[in-house]
Amino acid sequence: MRKSLKALVTGGAGFIGSHMVDRLVNDGYDVRIIDDLSTGRIDNIQSLLSAGKVDFVKGDIRDVSLVTKSVDDVDDVVHFAALTSVPFSVKNPELTFDVNLCGTLNLIRACAQEDVGRFVFVSSCAVCGDPEFLPVREEHRPNPISPYAESKLIAERYCLGFQDRQLLRSVVLRFFNVYGPRQGMNDYSGVITRFIDRVKRKEPLVIYGDGSQTRDFVNVRDVVEAVLASMKSGDVEGEVFNVGSGKPTSINELAKTILELAGVDLEIRYEKLRAGDIKDSYADISKAKKFLGYEPKVSLRDGLRVLLEEKLGVS
Ligand SMILES: NC(=O)c1ccc[n+]([C@@H]2O[C@H](COP(=O)([O-])OP(=O)(O)OC[C@H]3O[C@@H](n4cnc5c(N)ncnc54)[C@H](O)[C@@H]3O)[C@@H](O)[C@H]2O)c1
Repeated sequence: MRKSLKALVTGGAGFIGSHMVDRLVNDGYDVRIIDDLSTGRIDNIQSLLSAGKVDFVKGDIRDVSLVTKSVDDVDDVVHFAALTSVPFSVKNPELTFDVNLCGTLNLIRACAQEDVGRFVFVSSCAVCGDPEFLPVREEHRPNPISPYAESKLIAERYCLGFQDRQLLRSVVLRFFNVYGPRQGMNDYSGVITRFIDRVKRKEPLVIYGDGSQTRDFVNVRDVVEAVLASMKSGDVEGEVFNVGSGKPTSINELAKTILELAGVDLEIRYEKLRAGDIKDSYADISKAKKFLGYEPKVSLRDGLRVLLEEKLGVS
């Protein structure tokens, strides 16, 4: 009988990483997690930990010996660990560089040394900045406008450079606006968690600008399928894929849908556009469809319904 595959998931106690861990365990993988719990939460993986189904290493991806030890018996690595807040990165460019870039390079080098099967790097649509055309395709000119996006872009380049030199088998995934259960609620969290928090407090929803700006909201359940496919599909090494829903949704539309599904009639308050906010963005996902068999299945309405049920008990 074939032994089960083993995957290392960095940032596996975080929002998206913990959903990935669930999915991999379901798929029969042995899973090891490295997470320093800086934004991740042990609660997100507690049931798997208690059931002895995952191996959890509390530690920092910048720690060379810990990373080297952690990759030596794994088949694949999925790399989520990062400092993800754009405003934080503007205030702390050195730390962002250190974690997102030096941490990634640590992993790449360890994976190259240990001849790891596949290294999936989780990047962001932020590397393209304010898009020059829509939908955004993978070959869009990079134009990062924050240290967060810069760190992701350079880390992508390292993955692809090591791949070109045949030292690594790497796939780069650019996530758009991911939402779903376990998404953290803090100053920097996404617009969906902020709106739902406002609904919970019965406070006005705040929109920066006129609300006509669009984003591509993709459910975490769809995202983890794309990651799994990127670990398993042939002929995808050295490639970059967009992972979004492929559909634009305006912030006005989002706010109205949340209010409607929550069954409340709260004020929508418009405030001045924030500097650095982009106008419109949504993904061309045809490449992921073609090579990864990726097909987003969760509609925004259904995804929001699940979230509202979880956060507010609305059904
Ligand atoms: N949420 C989105 O919409 C979105 C969009 C594009 C890309 N991404 C990318 O997806 C990945 C996961 O993001 P998320 O939204 O789940 O955020 P998250 O903050 O919940 O996850 C990041 C995880 O990395 C861990 N971490 C941070 N620094 C670390 C370090 N030095 N060593 C070990 N662990 C460390 C955190 O504790 C956390 O568990 C990130 O790489 C992020 O850039 C997310």
